[in-house]
Amino acid sequence: MGSNGEYCASKLLESQTHVWNHIFSYINSMSLKCAIDLGIPEAIHNYGQPMPLSQLISSLQIHPTKSQFIHRLMRILTHSGFFSKEISLKSELESSYALTDASKLLLKDHPMSLSPFLSAMLDPILTKPWYKLPAWFQNNSPTSFYMTHGMTLWDYASLEPTLNKYFNDAMATDTPFITSVLFEKCKGVFEGLESLVDVGGGTGTMTKAIAEKFPQMECIAFDLPHAVNGLQGSGNIKYVGGDMFESIPPSDGILLKFILHDWPDEKCIKILKKCKEAITRSKERKGKVIVIDMVVSDDDEKIDDEDHKSIETQLFFDMLMMVEVNGKERNEKEWANLIFSAGFSDYKIYFSALGLRSLIEIFP
Ligand SMILES: C[S@@+](CC[C@H](N)C(=O)[O-])C[C@H]1O[C@@H](n2cnc3c(N)ncnc32)[C@H](O)[C@@H]1O
Repeated sequence: MGSNGEYCASKLLESQTHVWNHIFSYINSMSLKCAIDLGIPEAIHNYGQPMPLSQLISSLQIHPTKSQFIHRLMRILTHSGFFSKEISLKSELESSYALTDASKLLLKDHPMSLSPFLSAMLDPILTKPWYKLPAWFQNNSPTSFYMTHGMTLWDYASLEPTLNKYFNDAMATDTPFITSVLFEKCKGVFEGLESLVDVGGGTGTMTKAIAEKFPQMECIAFDLPHAVNGLQGSGNIKYVGGDMFESIPPSDGILLKFILHDWPDEKCIKILKKCKEAITRSKERKGKVIVIDMVVSDDDEKIDDEDHKSIETQLFFDMLMMVEVNGKERNEKEWANLIFSAGFSDYKIYFSALGLRSLIEIFP
């Protein structure tokens, strides 16, 4: 075969690898989930130094017949950057494993642990709907989640305490990631507000962080009754149960963090109209809505290699919103359309102020 033929054959094999890697992407997720469920990051952390494989095996609650398989789980997770492998000083034949920055974030006691987020996202309640995706494209069901479970995610969470807990815990893990940057880069956005309602604030971790930072501000964590049930306010924080499509407690500022991406355009416009009704509009003081969500790049924008990973994460979220809740991630044009359709007059975007997410101030 000539050089051109060889080139084509090697390209073909590269494409085969590309397809295989996509078919097997779930193996990365499920191997990671397995390591978390077995408590591997905790075992290595508690050991206090790189942990020899034999020690790791004996510390885990596994059946003796499965000891021989642990090194294979560790091998793929080392390859994907969750553990680093070192040669043990005692025995050159035995590998020892240490945590990386990524696996430290999966320790259950880490203040910014992503472990509840992993458990929620990889629970069959949220993964089963992916099998219905092709059928969803062929019928008029609102979401694959609805097709799978016969109700919306929010109704399911109100009936199923396990999902409610997973979901609330998962969402709560986000707060520590963004608060320091939020208060450093966008503190001015909150200044001058005497009150704030965190709409869809879940169990109120973000509301609490804002209430602590601005002790003069009266803060309300507002969510569906099942989400705030039993939560007690104190100081300048209160919990209120309700439905944001019905009415939102009046206040100077309304925070919508990770809310509008859960909903299709017509519902977002409804929510924003309810926010407009709720915000202060006196001569002296004008309220505002503060949105924390992604602002994705335009489809035709040139993407360099550096951006490729971040854009993939945004696309993952966009697909997740489509499958689970009938929401979407939006570009600036789509945001502007929502904002003006709800009757607001202006907005300001702090692009990527919070990593993959932006902050949008919306003015009446
Ligand atoms: C993706 S979570 C975001 C939670 C929180 N804002 C955060 O960023 O961590 C969406 C929240 O919206 C709440 N929600 C859904 N429908 C609602 C409604 N009709 N009224 C009020 N809250 C609602 C859910 O219970 C959930 O807590």
